[in-house]
Amino acid sequence: MSAATVTLPPISIPPHPTWPALTAAQKGALKQRIRALMQQRDAVLVAHYYTDGDLQELAEESGGCVADSLEMARFGSVQQARTLVVCGVRFMGETAKILNPEKEVLMPDLRASCSLDDGCPAALFAHFCDQYPEHTVVVYANTSAAVKARADWMVTSGIALPIVKHLSERGEKILWAPDRHLGRYVEKLSGAQDMVFWPGSCVVHEEFKSVALERLRRLHPEAAVLVHPESPESVIALADVVGSTTALIKAVTELPNETFIVATDGGIFHKMQQLAPQKRLLEAPTAGEGATCVSCAHCPWMGMNSLHNLATLLEQGGQPIEVSAEIREKAVIPIRRMLDFAAAQKRV
Ligand code: 13P
Ligand code: SF4
Repeated sequence: MSAATVTLPPISIPPHPTWPALTAAQKGALKQRIRALMQQRDAVLVAHYYTDGDLQELAEESGGCVADSLEMARFGSVQQARTLVVCGVRFMGETAKILNPEKEVLMPDLRASCSLDDGCPAALFAHFCDQYPEHTVVVYANTSAAVKARADWMVTSGIALPIVKHLSERGEKILWAPDRHLGRYVEKLSGAQDMVFWPGSCVVHEEFKSVALERLRRLHPEAAVLVHPESPESVIALADVVGSTTALIKAVTELPNETFIVATDGGIFHKMQQLAPQKRLLEAPTAGEGATCVSCAHCPWMGMNSLHNLATLLEQGGQPIEVSAEIREKAVIPIRRMLDFAAAQKRV
């Protein structure tokens, strides 16, 4: 592995938003209003597993989807609806816009960012890539449209490993950005040699700690440990299952264990508990006080999505996601490559 010589910009982490509590009747009425507004706009909801449980339920009840980043991109691009309402973080909205330039793409809060995206500014990244002209540039989905425009491939956690393996078997040298933990994990498992890394990380997953996790595991020896690969290497090393949000949810439904220790954003518990109500889910320990992530196992940017601001968006309108034609024409290439690769994999 080559070490990158990049100084990352400081990341500003917002406090985790809080939303007014709703009674069951208020919630039902609000959902009803949102559904009517979505019909008027010919809109479909595409939500991530980390968003609020009520939003996830509404997305599914109204014919939209709740998914990981890969499926969100795929689902959005096969919809007839005129408007895609993306409940997640900005890169997910941008990917939807890049794949569907003719559609209106809205998000409840355009400030919903991601530390990986913020920590990889396009100009700095382009300069970094220029130092490795012979490398194939592979970027994680959690990047801006402008960063994707500089890439050869985009990957999500669900498909990063087979794509990097494929490229390395073709003898390609890989420049990976921006999540160094996922990159290192993929390098190890794919057998790729001498990958070059951008040194970014996710402020939420970075806070999972291996010593405390080992302690918790000793208390629950019957539990399976599920880890998202944005977590540090020492945490991944303790996992029974490492994978995308979809893979971790699948593990809860398919493994015989009664108890699971889960090292990823707590929003995922909603779907896990919905599919396997009899199973016991424990949060993997984070650094707690003094941690750099003020939210600790709850992404503050994902938390910017709620029924409240979704209703306001649909009632009052909001600024749609825009991606310039120049960036879009370049950024669509690595995204399409990934989707075509994923489709080909499903066929074999
Ligand atoms: P998934 O693609 O696994 O859903 O991950 C997205 C993400 O942002 C994890 O932090
Ligand atoms: Fe980004 Fe981490 Fe939030 Fe996922 S959990 S959106 S990687 S900051």
